[in-house]
Amino acid sequence: MRLILLGPPGAGKGTQAQAICRHFGIPQISTGDMLRAAVKAGTPLGLEAKKVMDAGGLVSDEIILGLVRERLQAPDCANGYLFDGFPRTLAQAEALKRDGVPLDVVLVFEVPDEEIVERMSGRLVHPASGRTYHVKYNPPKQPGVDDVTGEPLIQRDDDKEETVRARLKVYHEQTKPLIDYYTAWEASGDPAAPKVRRVNGVGPVDEVTERVIAALLS
Ligand code: AP5
Ligand code: ZN
Repeated sequence: MRLILLGPPGAGKGTQAQAICRHFGIPQISTGDMLRAAVKAGTPLGLEAKKVMDAGGLVSDEIILGLVRERLQAPDCANGYLFDGFPRTLAQAEALKRDGVPLDVVLVFEVPDEEIVERMSGRLVHPASGRTYHVKYNPPKQPGVDDVTGEPLIQRDDDKEETVRARLKVYHEQTKPLIDYYTAWEASGDPAAPKVRRVNGVGPVDEVTERVIAALLS
């Protein structure tokens, strides 16, 4: 299975990615997690990316494509992969197509903007693994602690309300047009075009997972 998760910030891409990757035995390629790892490591790329991320903007296509192209060389990508948060500009989508990276499905998460802000304000993350929780909707077994490692959970720097609103604006302007892009490609009848599947992302996490798996197998 080779797929893209597309949807606004806080739609549940990272949360559902965990279940999908387990189900199909494929790696999660989250450009956001890769950038946060670079920020934490203090690399020059990380220092540059941090400013952009904290403002809710998008890191340059050049940097992102460099990260993804390198990641795709790894042997664990041979049997499939899940892109989480990539591509998110037309330029990134076109580059992926030009590179001939095979794709089966583009999964579009639909969640209204009003729900997003509440989700972000309660999000807790285990930075090393990217595992994501919510204080109310998806709480860890023990408060503030990762279920698997027992390590502390943190809040993301870009989850402040004003940054979330900036990220939503960027999503509507630059990433949402990709839904039309992939829909048009599918409609063209090109056998290389991925199927576009829309999923309602509102409701309990497990129910959304059932919808996702059903959509992927349809
Ligand atoms: P990235 O890390 O990709 O952030 P994002 O797309 O804004 O998405 P999020 O991670 O915020 O949300 P999510 O959909 O994964 O939701 P989650 O599962 O965590 O990118 C961060 C930044 O990096 C960008 O702003 C940009 O600067 C840069 N960047 C990354 N990729 C880039 C690219 N390709 N090009 C350029 N720049 C790039 O869920 C959110 C919360 O809701 C959690 O608390 C969760 O527990 C909860 N939740 C999940 N599902 C449900 C549910 N069904 N009901 C209730 N709560 C739920
Ligand atoms: Zn995420």
